Amino acid sequence: MNVLVTGGCGFIGSNLVKYIRRHRPDWKVVNFDKLTYAGNLENLTELEGDPNHVFVRGDVGNKELIEHLVRLHGIEAVMHLAAESHVDRSILGPEVFTVTNVLGTQVLLEACRATGVKRFLMVSTDEVYGSLGPTGSFTETSPLQPSSVYSASKTSADLMALAYEHTFGLDVVVTRCSNNYGRYQFPEKLIPLMVVNALGDKPLPVYGDGGNVRDWLHVEDHCQALLIALEKGRRGEVYNIGGGAERKNIEIVKGILSALSKPETLIKYVKDRPGHDRRYAIDPAKIKAELGWKPAHTFEQGLAETVRWYVDNRPWWERVMSGAYRQYFDTQYKARLDQAAA
Ligand code: NAD
Ligand code: DAU
Repeated sequence: MNVLVTGGCGFIGSNLVKYIRRHRPDWKVVNFDKLTYAGNLENLTELEGDPNHVFVRGDVGNKELIEHLVRLHGIEAVMHLAAESHVDRSILGPEVFTVTNVLGTQVLLEACRATGVKRFLMVSTDEVYGSLGPTGSFTETSPLQPSSVYSASKTSADLMALAYEHTFGLDVVVTRCSNNYGRYQFPEKLIPLMVVNALGDKPLPVYGDGGNVRDWLHVEDHCQALLIALEKGRRGEVYNIGGGAERKNIEIVKGILSALSKPETLIKYVKDRPGHDRRYAIDPAKIKAELGWKPAHTFEQGLAETVRWYVDNRPWWERVMSGAYRQYFDTQYKARLDQAAA
């Protein structure tokens, strides 16, 4: 099979490209990525010289280029991960979220329709369902109630993909996953940010009361689910993917400090994220029953392994956090801590 993966140099995308190369050695993967601040070719160094991995730098909004690549490489399936993925950034600068996540997805769908791509896997998110109270979990039929610009843009893309199936007969499968963690995650997201700060003895900014809950999934388990959904998912269906590991943010932060033997005095409660969703929890019963997927990692084992990876790979995160990103990060980070102190 020849597959085009968009966003294949980001966190999940780079893990996915490597996962596919390991588990489907006869497949060709065309990795299509714009290389924004979040995309990094260094995530893929182990594939250097691999003739079945082709990297192309480009924007999902470039229809001609995508059509050309589909024809050139005989692409049969597209796995769409390219996106602006960080909620905090969607508060600071919303426009690019519409351009990439909404318009970009539609252009990509058009290109797939025009070239007759056989299957389109839309990688969506559990954030389309909005926020939960203290009990219950999201099923595929839960109402869509996105609350951030990021999640609204992902909901639009998710529904657009389903509309292309319904209206134009494109073979679309949608997956909605909970929070991922693991190696190569950009240190703006909770887990890698806390590890990196703790290693530098810097304050760990916890939003609000630290009681918000996320449902964590190891990125390798997500990659396995995406491959299964691509190969066996039913056309026009949505599959929730979740690890069954609900944790309060503060529990995670304390766990990281303990793993690194750092004091809890580094924890700094800061002003809450505007519109902060309180709790996510995924019911993955459908993908388990229909497609036979189940996660292999426990959260405690996965978190320990992830913390160790960041300890051992300081040059990687120092490099990805340098340059233009550094400027953004320092400004935001300082503003949060100033607010906390005020
Ligand atoms: P990421 O931010 O680490 O990577 C995104 C990648 O997309 C980067 O390589 C970037 O260069 C690329 N990209 C951005 N704009 C592009 C454009 N216009 N054209 C081409 N490439 C572009 O994101 P991630 O955390 O790996 O998430 C991947 C996908 O999974 C996203 O669609 C996200 O919404 C979804 N998702 C993420 C999580 C999570 O916990 N991280 C959970 C559920 C779903
Ligand atoms: O649920 C899936 C989503 O998970 C994905 O669709 C998104 O792409 C991904 O970024 C992630 O969104 P979150 O907003 O849940 O992830 P983030 O790592 O930014 O935050 C996790 C929780 O930690 C959230 O409750 C906010 C909190 N937080 C985050 C940061 C960066 C803090 O308390 N302090 C921080 O500095």
